[in-house]
Amino acid sequence: VESGLEPSDLQESSVLYNVKTRFDREIIYTYIGSILVSVNPYQMFNIYGMDQVLQYKGRALGENPPHLFAIANLAYTKMLDAKHNQCIIISGESGSGKTEATKLILRYLAAVNQKHDVMQQVRIFA
Ligand SMILES: Nc1ncnc2c1ncn2[C@@H]1O[C@H](COP(=O)(O)OP(=O)(O)OP(=O)(O)O)[C@@H](O)[C@H]1O
Ligand SMILES: [Mg+2]
Repeated sequence: VESGLEPSDLQESSVLYNVKTRFDREIIYTYIGSILVSVNPYQMFNIYGMDQVLQYKGRALGENPPHLFAIANLAYTKMLDAKHNQCIIISGESGSGKTEATKLILRYLAAVNQKHDVMQQVRIFA
C-alpha cells in the first residue's frame, strides 16, 4: 500500500481503502500529495519521541514515512528560509485528534528550537 497517493489515485474509494489498509497495520498517517491524513488510533503509539524528532528534522517529505513531524519540519524550515510566517491548518471532526496534533507539533518545535523566541510566536487558534 502506497504511503503517498498521486492525483490519479484520488477517487474516494481508493483513498479510503489505502488509509484503512495502512491503519490496519497500525500506520495512522498517509499523504495525499503534501496533505497529511491522520486516523485517530485512540492509543498512543511510540512514534513521537526524540528518535522521531531527529529522524524528521531537516528532511524533505518524501525522505521519511508520513508523519506529523514531517509537516512541522516543513513549516519550520520554510519559516527560517523564507523569513515569513507559516501556518498549519488542522481540520477534522470532533475527537479526530486536532488538539493532540497541535500538542505534538508544539513538542516537535520545542525540541528542534534551541532558543525560545520562536515558541513565543506560535499562535494557536483551536
Ligand atoms: N495521534 C494520536 N495518537 C493517539 N491518540 C490520539 C491521537 N490523537 C488523538 N488521540 C486521542 O483522541 C482523543 C481526542 O483527540 P483530540 O482531543 O485531539 O480531538 P479534537 O479533534 O481536538 O476534538 P474537538 O474538536 O472536540 O476539540 C485524545 O484525547 C486522545 O486520547
Ligand atoms: Mg480539540
